[in-house]
Amino acid sequence: MTKPILPGEVAAAVVDPVAYGNWDPLHEQLTWARANMPLGVAENHDHDPFWLVTRHADIMAISRDPQRFANGIRPTVLTNRDGEALARAATPNNDGHLIRSLVQMDAPDHMKYRLLTQSWFMPKNLKIVEERIRQIARETVDHMLEQGGTCDFARDVAAHYPLRVIMDILGVPPEDEPRMLMLTQQLFGPTDPELNRSREAITSAEQAIAMLDYVIADFTQYFGALTADRRANPREDIATVIANATINGEQIPDREMSGYYMIVATAGHDTTSASTAGAMMELAKNPALFERFRSADSDKAGLIEEAIRWTTPVQHFMRSAKEDVEIGGQTIREGDWLMLNYVSANRDEGVFGEPFAFNPDREKNQQIAFGFGAHVCLGQHLARMEMRILMEELLPKLKSVELAGEPARVESVFVGGLKRLPVRFEAA
Ligand code: HEM
Repeated sequence: MTKPILPGEVAAAVVDPVAYGNWDPLHEQLTWARANMPLGVAENHDHDPFWLVTRHADIMAISRDPQRFANGIRPTVLTNRDGEALARAATPNNDGHLIRSLVQMDAPDHMKYRLLTQSWFMPKNLKIVEERIRQIARETVDHMLEQGGTCDFARDVAAHYPLRVIMDILGVPPEDEPRMLMLTQQLFGPTDPELNRSREAITSAEQAIAMLDYVIADFTQYFGALTADRRANPREDIATVIANATINGEQIPDREMSGYYMIVATAGHDTTSASTAGAMMELAKNPALFERFRSADSDKAGLIEEAIRWTTPVQHFMRSAKEDVEIGGQTIREGDWLMLNYVSANRDEGVFGEPFAFNPDREKNQQIAFGFGAHVCLGQHLARMEMRILMEELLPKLKSVELAGEPARVESVFVGGLKRLPVRFEAA
């Protein structure tokens, strides 16, 4: 059977950072794909061909089958051909993973490493840090109110709060947060000219790898020092858990250790910032919704879940087939590469009534922004809790909020969301 080949404009859009900076035309392409070619091969000049997976059900099926759809074989985030070749040349065993974290691991390592911190991120343990998070939320709200009626909510509020929370839990002191924020934005959004170090668009794989190399070396140096400290002076933080972790009675190797710090330090804030800013944008656009949720006793759960679906901060992850598999009526061959497009799955009209409407009252919100299966987001409960606490602390303190300028999205294929959200507000 011949493989279905996606139209050139769809294939081009899903690999283009600029397309993710301007969602409406991208959504048109993804809607077309869901209806006409839900599993189609994207062929582009610079990338190896890959299957674009756009339907919710197919992404679920692939995610629940890590034995056959692996993370460790090819890049887990879309990488062009030159970038992958350079990364392979630059890594031990030519595996191409500049970082080896939970995301790049498969069985049996994956579960062993995940279990080292999993209980930390469970709702029961998070209760212990709830008060601390509330304190950070209150400081964040005070900082916003001090801005005197206008602010860039994405930059001044949403970017800082989840960073403070994850750094606090990890054990990084506040004075090192600006460095962590810059490194994360470079790691996740290096294609955006406003966010990368040189302030110019990255145009070649060499430039991208050089930038990532620099960022990774900086992270590694930082966390090496933190490890030494926590081995000598254990504390009640995740750095202590990671620094002293053993697998099969042995300390974890340096590469995996720095990968662990990096994934916890980075996965937890730009993502949560994006969904927090997205929630605020919808409240600023809809006074009735704002009025409803600013009431102190309103239940925020539906708002949070819908904001996460609506924003889908992690826009894709890649998988690689370990054997031939039939899925969604197509035959995926061993070695094929697949893009799980969560942006598309979270607008799947087969799962969500009126998927392009922001509706906090969805009965059972089956959003898939946290992924699914063995790799499902380790920080999902923390992300929801952070957003809830910020909304609980912020909304009752505001009398009104409205847009004060054009919002702008990050130009990145991987982690997306608002980089600018100018708002005007009145304190209550
Ligand atoms: C994995 C999304 C917040 C830590 C993931 C995955 C997604 C995701 C899509 C991959 C799932 C899969 O492959 O099936 C998000 C979103 C967030 C968020 C949308 C915020 C709204 C956080 C937070 C943390 C975190 C706060 C805190 C540490 C991780 C880690 C993994 C992960 C460690 C790797 C898990 C593994 O491979 O086993 N996340 N995440 N994330 N996330 Fe999150």
